[in-house]
Amino acid sequence: MPELVPVLRKEDIDRQVAMVAGKISADYKGRDLVVIGVLKGAFVFLSDLVRQLCIPLKIDFVQVSSYGDATCSSGNICLVKDIGVDIENRHVLVVEDIVDTGLTLSYLLEHIRSFRPASVKVCSFIHKSGRRKVAVPVDYCCHAVEEGFLVGYGLDYAEDYRHLPELYEMKE
Ligand code: PRP
Repeated sequence: MPELVPVLRKEDIDRQVAMVAGKISADYKGRDLVVIGVLKGAFVFLSDLVRQLCIPLKIDFVQVSSYGDATCSSGNICLVKDIGVDIENRHVLVVEDIVDTGLTLSYLLEHIRSFRPASVKVCSFIHKSGRRKVAVPVDYCCHAVEEGFLVGYGLDYAEDYRHLPELYEMKE
């Protein structure tokens, strides 16, 4: 069994999420926001985050897969579920659980911008920088790390551990 080493306890997560939510609420005051969560990993963070936002907003989800066929992008990323709400001239906040190589986000930002939103920003629970392959903007984040395989709070290993309420580093 892999060892799970605690990284963020529930109280740390709650504090960081509340802080980021406060910044987002202030930055988007008086504007029309659409929050787009990236499935599956972002579902836990997004659900905590949006309940702390005190601005009007709509919520939608996209899902991408990082393995596929010839119809995929150069990073082998495919869209599994597309955006279902109209984002033209709306302010969009993309919510991720983790930005790692940046390939998923880079693909998604290009796709989202093709719908001509008024603006696009990114909020990621974890900003992991040590394996970055492409420069992507991360406007809001709760926790920055260089490396390590993280699980819990939506992040999985082979679909396990997503449900854990706290964040762990998985050690073999
Ligand atoms: C994870 C995560 C991000 C992506 C980040 O998704 O949710 O979308 O990887 O990695 P990158 O910066 O290296 O592209 P994953 O493909 O594991 O799917 P999941 O969200 O369903 O776990």
